[in-house]
Amino acid sequence: MRVEPAASLVGHVVVPGDKSISHRAVLVGALGEGETHVHGFGRSGDTQASVDAVRALGVEVDDVADDELVVHGVGLRGLRAGAVDCANSGTLMRLLTGVLAGQDGEFSLSGDESLTPRPMERVAAPLRRMGADVETTDGHAPLVIRGTGALRGVEIEPEVASAQVKSAILLAGLNADGPTTVVERIPTRDHTELMLEAAGVRVRRSASSATVQPAGGLRLDEVVVPGDFSSAAPLLVAAALVPGSDLTIHDLGVNPRRTGLLTVLERMGARVAVFDRRRAGREPVASVQVQPGQLVATEIGAVEVPGLVDELPLVALLASHARGETRVYGARELRVKETDRIEAVTDGLRSLGARIHSQEDGWTVTGVPARLRGGRVEARGDHRIAMLGAVAGLASREGVAIEGADTAAISFPGFYELLESVTRR
Ligand code: S3P
Repeated sequence: MRVEPAASLVGHVVVPGDKSISHRAVLVGALGEGETHVHGFGRSGDTQASVDAVRALGVEVDDVADDELVVHGVGLRGLRAGAVDCANSGTLMRLLTGVLAGQDGEFSLSGDESLTPRPMERVAAPLRRMGADVETTDGHAPLVIRGTGALRGVEIEPEVASAQVKSAILLAGLNADGPTTVVERIPTRDHTELMLEAAGVRVRRSASSATVQPAGGLRLDEVVVPGDFSSAAPLLVAAALVPGSDLTIHDLGVNPRRTGLLTVLERMGARVAVFDRRRAGREPVASVQVQPGQLVATEIGAVEVPGLVDELPLVALLASHARGETRVYGARELRVKETDRIEAVTDGLRSLGARIHSQEDGWTVTGVPARLRGGRVEARGDHRIAMLGAVAGLASREGVAIEGADTAAISFPGFYELLESVTRR
């Protein structure tokens, strides 16, 4: 796939439903009493893996439309023992491990060649402290989870700032014998807490912790999934980079724990407007408009990372067009995503003409306010790197060829078509 330079990006669009919330709607719906209607489901390779997973565990799911599902819940401890293929999805594997820790029977979870090397002790170890029987394969998938009856409610501070780890613990806590608390010094996305609250669970929250009480039963009824901020991000960044652009994305999830990129865009000099704010259930939603500006370098440290963790590759691209030296640090987690994103971004952007150096936990980028030359980017089986390549192509002088472009469908089928629909040449 080749993406040619753009003259501008102009238009009003919507993006598919949020991937994090779609996974959670399927998993929490499966544990619910009765039917959960999911509207705006973000159907993609990853979220389809969640649907297939709960089906393999005895849950009926009706595909009403591409973006609409009905999940027939089996109750908090009603999942049937079995084997699940989590495909490429770390979110599914980690959250499901928490869900299964308090079930009866034996479950095995496997994944593809990108998921298998990713660290799984980060969920297994805290769940064991709750009394769960979770076996990893040298810290990785495949996993075996054996139901051990009631779990213990405990207080846990995970070693990494991770919404997936927090969520796994809180979901296991639904079947515990007392309150379960996750302490986090750096706040991560709170979609699980918001959805459990909506399902009737008693959730106590502070800036640095979340506690769930064991639940008698869950009832979600309906989930309206807002547009995925991380899917909107490539479009927003393209609009910030290409002179003359004016792009608005409507019905977009703007949960403050997800929108760190907007803060960074503004700080770097892009023009950002957020309007028509409202809520979809408990999740904040708005329209977001981005126009370019004279970009300047910035600094991003560990505290900001969870709020834009999946957008950091795009920040490196912004930085290569921004006057001065940008430093991103405290982002070691990028090394254990779908690929090592620190090296994938460094190699990819450098081959397009950027001045970027990797560190153990981030990058240093020396930017100049001019288009990159262009060239070739290898996606390395990582959807976010493929989309980075496309945005780099629009903002380049000569275009970018993306090797493995199809992998974008892991989170965003239709990405290239939507991008093309707002691109002027
Ligand atoms: C996610 C949390 C983040 C993020 C991932 C989705 C979630 O991962 O990178 O794409 O849905 O909870 P970590 O929890 O590993 O930071």
